[in-house]
Amino acid sequence: MSLKLTNEQLRQFDDEGYLFLPDVFEPAETDLLLHEAHEIFACDRKEVVRERDGRTARTAFAAQHYNEAYRRLARHPRLVRPVQQILGGEVYMHQFKINAKAAFDGDVWQWHQDYGVWSRDDQMPECRAMNIALFLEDVTEFNGALMFIPRSHKAGVLEAGHDVETTSYPLWTIDNATIARLVEEGGLVAPKGPAGSLVMFNGNLVHGSPSNMSPFDRTIVYLSLCRVENHIRRFKRPEWVAHRDFTPIECLDDACLSSFVREAA
Ligand code: SIN
Ligand code: MN
Repeated sequence: MSLKLTNEQLRQFDDEGYLFLPDVFEPAETDLLLHEAHEIFACDRKEVVRERDGRTARTAFAAQHYNEAYRRLARHPRLVRPVQQILGGEVYMHQFKINAKAAFDGDVWQWHQDYGVWSRDDQMPECRAMNIALFLEDVTEFNGALMFIPRSHKAGVLEAGHDVETTSYPLWTIDNATIARLVEEGGLVAPKGPAGSLVMFNGNLVHGSPSNMSPFDRTIVYLSLCRVENHIRRFKRPEWVAHRDFTPIECLDDACLSSFVREAA
């Protein structure tokens, strides 16, 4: 399966700041990744950040460096090529994370812009970077869906405060008055869909997600990809949070994950 975005999709991404693509990965692929995610969450390692309860996995960074399935996913053409297409050239992996948003215990991600974080913490020169996310489980109205403010990416980098208290993970967050104004202008969307769906969003798109009070986990993998020449200039955060290898990603074959499923069986 090749994934080439149409002109209409490129226009939508440009106008709205995001694109939702349902059913891109097969159940066998997402089942394998979900199984591996749980193995990773169970590990006691620095890359796995826990919620405030000190127990529930919140996010696992850099799994492409220590897990074979994720090593392949990080070079998967169905994820990397559409981003190369949008950013218009070669990309490197700035950040890679698996967000658990666990049933009952998965905590909020406050309103923020990712590029706001990348520019303030990592001195990434320009917003020539973005996310592509893969749902490993169905995302519904119940399990803490990601919310976007359409068109908010046009506002550039907004003022933000460094919130080190609300959750276990510090974040540059945007105040309520700004959010209210942006929502008045752009509305709100929460792309929902089955495991295997993708969502892509501009580095400046304002987003967040509520806590998960449902009995359903909501595991999503995020690849944050950046144009190679736009690499970060400051190495303040650990390298497993903000990577320092600016080598252009070379895609593997489209079957790189499905063949691993067969090998693992
Ligand atoms: C993020 O914005 O980085 C994560 C949000 C989420 O997974 O809900
Ligand atoms: Mn984010």
